[in-house]
Amino acid sequence: SSFTNSTSSISTHLTRRGYGTESVPERKVAVLGAAGGIGQPLALLMKLNPLVSRLALYDIAGTPGVAADISHINSRSEVAGYMGEEQLGQALEGSDVVIIPAGVPRKPGMTRDDLFNINAGIVKSLCTAISKYCPNALVNMISNPVNSTVPIAAEVFKKAGTYDEKKLFGVTTLDVVRAKTFYAGKGKIPVADVNVPVVGGHAGITILPLFSQATPKSNLSDEEIVALTKRTQDGGTEVVEAKAGKGSATLSMAYAGAIFADACLKGLNGVSDVVECSFVQSSITELPFFASKVKLGKNGVEEVLGLGPLSDYERQGLELLIPELKASIEKGVKFANQN
Ligand code: NAD
Ligand code: LMR
Repeated sequence: SSFTNSTSSISTHLTRRGYGTESVPERKVAVLGAAGGIGQPLALLMKLNPLVSRLALYDIAGTPGVAADISHINSRSEVAGYMGEEQLGQALEGSDVVIIPAGVPRKPGMTRDDLFNINAGIVKSLCTAISKYCPNALVNMISNPVNSTVPIAAEVFKKAGTYDEKKLFGVTTLDVVRAKTFYAGKGKIPVADVNVPVVGGHAGITILPLFSQATPKSNLSDEEIVALTKRTQDGGTEVVEAKAGKGSATLSMAYAGAIFADACLKGLNGVSDVVECSFVQSSITELPFFASKVKLGKNGVEEVLGLGPLSDYERQGLELLIPELKASIEKGVKFANQN
């Protein structure tokens, strides 16, 4: 499956030259927050993706420069910059995939939930525009707190009458990217071969890597698995502290966002067996949204895959995360319905 090969697929794209575009459908991708720390390198990676024919870069400021710069790259997509609310509709119109890395990042000492007050409103207004200008697009939500911003988006779409649960995704790919890297490092396994599903949500203990299902197998001790789990859960904080006030993960996030958007595009284009972990509407637990492996297809989510067998430690982690994730989901739903 492409879950197995997802990390290497983007580098294949990046190194492939002289690809033909005849058989590749036209696809428009919009990046909202495109002048930001994630937005710029993500825009670059999307410009390098041959599945994209049009790239719309939207932000409240700075996008003309980013768009002019990226547009000089001799790859397939046409690039256009859009700035300010009056150009948001044009940026979104005709989009197949909308990626949202708009909003403020953490500083040391903050939780992702501390971003709620600012980012909830940003996400709400962007999603209102999506429901108006490209209601059929797949939405890739990066803005934090993802555990709440995805439910906010769902509520906005429901109110507008455009909600399709198959088309809304919280991007948790960075958790998978980290789990793979840390597992490969600890187990001394070639990282390109490694796969680790990560389920739950995208904040602290709600991030649950399933190292018992990691491939290839390694003989790590229980203590090592606990340490790897904690490092994956705290991966974002590790970067926030190292950046010491200058924001959170941007480059690794751009990479992860590009992998996930590529998977969405492949699914839309009818490639079979495209599987990535994502935070989606779900019935595999008691919670209305949950991250797990998801099969992507022509209409977005084709199937939400189950959790598979869990170790005792993972089952315990699952029980512990449910109340926190539930509260974050409810906070998002409440915000969307009150404001
Ligand atoms: P940043 O401050 O560098 O960039 C954010 C951009 O959003 C800025 O350019 C800003 O102008 C823009 N923006 C603000 N309001 C907007 C609006 N209404 N419409 C369009 N654009 C708007 O921040 P960053 O480091 O790029 O992080 C962005 C978000 O992504 C943060 O919320 C961060 O927590 C989140 N994040 C999520 C993950 C994840 O794994 N899901 C990983 C890293 C960061
Ligand atoms: C991450 O996981 O790096 C992001 O969610 C950003 C953060 O605040 O940690």
